Amino acid sequence: MLRSAAILALSLAVLPIRPAFAAEEKAEAAAIVKDYGGRLQGELKAAMENGGPVAAITVCNQRSPAIAAELSAKTGWLVARTSLKPRNPSSAPTGWEDGVMRDFERRMAAGEPVADLVRAEMVEEGGARLFRFAKAIPTAELCLNCHGSALKPETQAALKQLYPADTATGYKPGDMRGIFTLSKRM
Ligand code: HEC
Repeated sequence: MLRSAAILALSLAVLPIRPAFAAEEKAEAAAIVKDYGGRLQGELKAAMENGGPVAAITVCNQRSPAIAAELSAKTGWLVARTSLKPRNPSSAPTGWEDGVMRDFERRMAAGEPVADLVRAEMVEEGGARLFRFAKAIPTAELCLNCHGSALKPETQAALKQLYPADTATGYKPGDMRGIFTLSKRM
């Protein structure tokens, strides 16, 4: 673990970037996150009201990746979500994302509101220049149905079947559930 973190630190360089350009990219990424988050929350709420958590799992399981893919195709950014405790193993964080989330956790512990946690920077990864953007995703009451500590047995069973390696439970309101993570090749 330590060793791979050291290797990552060596292969991850933060590059200098013109402030005006960075502000433009950051604003574009923030708008995409707003769109993605808004649509997800809307669909999730509607599905929960119509059919409860088990029915709403489809929104997270199918609609979330579909909206992310649609936004990626439309904008040229790679749009995704990740977490330090992912439910879907394919959403596990990259080295940069892992570092950003650990930094966000520290900033929250120091009193910063989760809604303010954003990072935007140009990095070099595996020989490619990427502009990366991350925004913290707060845990709301609604999320506890599937990410809290006391899931209904039928919700738990449905999640277990789809995600045998699930680690995304035990959250409280106000916790950081994960981040929206966007990247674009420069
Ligand atoms: C109805 C159940 C349900 C509810 C409610 C729900 N989620 Fe999820 N969540 C899931 C499922 C299922 C996945 C896995 C999706 C996938 O396969 O990519 C997931 C994945 C995620 C991920 C991606 C990282 C990971 O763990 O795989 C984030 C971030 C996330 N949820 C945040 C939230 C937030 C924030 C809320 C509340 C606004 C919320 N979820 C409400 C079921 C739910």
